Amino acid sequence: MCGIVGAVAQNNIVPTLLEGLHRLEYRGYDSAGIALLNGGLNRLRTTGRVAELSKLVNERQFQSKIGIAHTRWATHGAPSERNTHPHFSGGGVSKVAVVHNGIIENHEALHQRLQDAGFEFVSDTDTEVIAHLIMLNLEKAPDLLEAVCRSVAELQGAYAIAVMEETHPDRIIVSRNGAPLLLGLGEDGNYAASDVSALLQVTKRMIYLEEGDVAELRRDGYRIVSCLGAGPCKEVERAVHESKLTNEAVEMGPYAHFMQKEIFEQPGAVANTLEMVLNAHSISPRLFGSEAENIFKQTKSILILACGTSYHAGLVARYWIESVAGLTCNVEIASEYRYRDPVSQSNALVVGISQSGETADTLAALSYAKSLGHRHSLAICNVAESALVRQADLRFLTRAGPEIGVASTKAFTTQLAALMLLTMTLSKLRGKLSDERELEMIAALRHLPVALQHALQVETQVKAWAERFSQKRHALFLGRGMHYPIAMEGALKLKEISYIHAEAYPAGELKHGPLALVDKDMPVVAIAPNDALLEKLKSNLQEVHARGGELYVFADADSRIQESEGLHIIRMAEHAGLLSPILHTVPLQLLAYHVALQKGTDIDKPRNLAKSVTVE
Ligand code: F6R
Repeated sequence: MCGIVGAVAQNNIVPTLLEGLHRLEYRGYDSAGIALLNGGLNRLRTTGRVAELSKLVNERQFQSKIGIAHTRWATHGAPSERNTHPHFSGGGVSKVAVVHNGIIENHEALHQRLQDAGFEFVSDTDTEVIAHLIMLNLEKAPDLLEAVCRSVAELQGAYAIAVMEETHPDRIIVSRNGAPLLLGLGEDGNYAASDVSALLQVTKRMIYLEEGDVAELRRDGYRIVSCLGAGPCKEVERAVHESKLTNEAVEMGPYAHFMQKEIFEQPGAVANTLEMVLNAHSISPRLFGSEAENIFKQTKSILILACGTSYHAGLVARYWIESVAGLTCNVEIASEYRYRDPVSQSNALVVGISQSGETADTLAALSYAKSLGHRHSLAICNVAESALVRQADLRFLTRAGPEIGVASTKAFTTQLAALMLLTMTLSKLRGKLSDERELEMIAALRHLPVALQHALQVETQVKAWAERFSQKRHALFLGRGMHYPIAMEGALKLKEISYIHAEAYPAGELKHGPLALVDKDMPVVAIAPNDALLEKLKSNLQEVHARGGELYVFADADSRIQESEGLHIIRMAEHAGLLSPILHTVPLQLLAYHVALQKGTDIDKPRNLAKSVTVE
């Protein structure tokens, strides 16, 4: 949520800042702003998208060799121009500019104190206290780095910030605590951003700042101090990483939307995620880290913590872990778990699932589980340098590549692939997976990328359905067993990007209430793989049919179910056994995508949402 980019270089950095913001727009798109030092501190802000800001900047022909910029997902204060970052303090002898991602939890107390000290507030944001606090601290510590260090020591909450000040026109100070921020070291200058994608245009040499780091960026150098814990901040060295990401990975290429690109990338993303096992004859706990075997052997149950789509991946895994590994598996919505008083089991393995590894609720739930006495944790995550990966004892990195569309697609299917590997590993260590079964399951995984390719071929048929859906205001999604979470995921995708109200139910639950909603205007989507629950599901579909409901069924090639008036079927090329939920996700993603396309919504940046939910 919220994207930050900063640059100090030998040449005009305005195009770099704007391109960086454009790449970060998936993080928030309520409003955007830029502050530049060119003589004095100047800024331009708009409640529109980055494209609007670019237009304004170009009209004014803004140029500078140093600047900070921001794209916002509003937390405190409506998306209005006065709440748009950068925020300023001063106006007398000097001026401070701040951009911020995160939430300052003690902003009310700071606001009062700063107001008493004579600072005038002009926005409704929590960010403005940071600008005034730095201004106040500059009176005591005229060095900007020192003033920022003193200021962040007073901030509570999660944040990443970038700061400029008029009397220090050669430097940008950045700091992070609980929200991502990295430095980019270029040939002609130095940069900072919330995400590597913003900086690939200028450099591949990155430094991932750690919690409590404050860094000073100048044209020809940088220094980093750590302000963690009590005592004065100390200068620290941080490793420089060469990013392996290419510019193309964060560009749309021939696709109309990132979501479309990411749906079609799934065969490759899953193949990359499974690479270590595709040519193997057996599965090794080392996939999850060197300590995994030892930890898994002590594991007596599994507790999965996640949000949104990642939570749905956890729900599918519960079916796998219970039936294949014979372990109890609880799956909790992280934002709920963290405020409950659950009974902890020290030998339950806590598994945090997150695409971004930044989701505040998932991070907090994991810490909470640890504080309750859970000894071991595993992160399943798509971002190697993320807080989640650093926080957990064990890790498995999905290799989906950058996911930019706000609606998660390839992250989900790669999470499922990872969770299947976890299931098999646990099962094997518990003596529940024969060599023969292991080989069969590896063969099924090996085939999965091709099966996904086949699943994508239903697109033309799904498009035809999408035309009918786009007229509807509500939809029901039904599934049974391990396909119920897939129904939930299908409903989430549809509501997220097409704004059609959609709810998922386990099909057997329909008659206990939701059947009352069914009429000719309520499309009912059902997932009908050829599994042991098919006959039960068919009875549930009859209940809908008998009440005039319009059924849209995703079946397998050999599912014994026939088309009839009011019952439409799209058949998947094959039945994939335990991996079926992965394949059945694809048509639901395509359905949501094509319905949204019909409706003309902003598919990659749906209203009110943002990717990477770094606030509670
Ligand atoms: C839905 C979606 C969200 C995320 C959720 C968790 O399409 O993208 O529901 O799944 O915000 O995000 P991560 O996986 O980054 O923790």
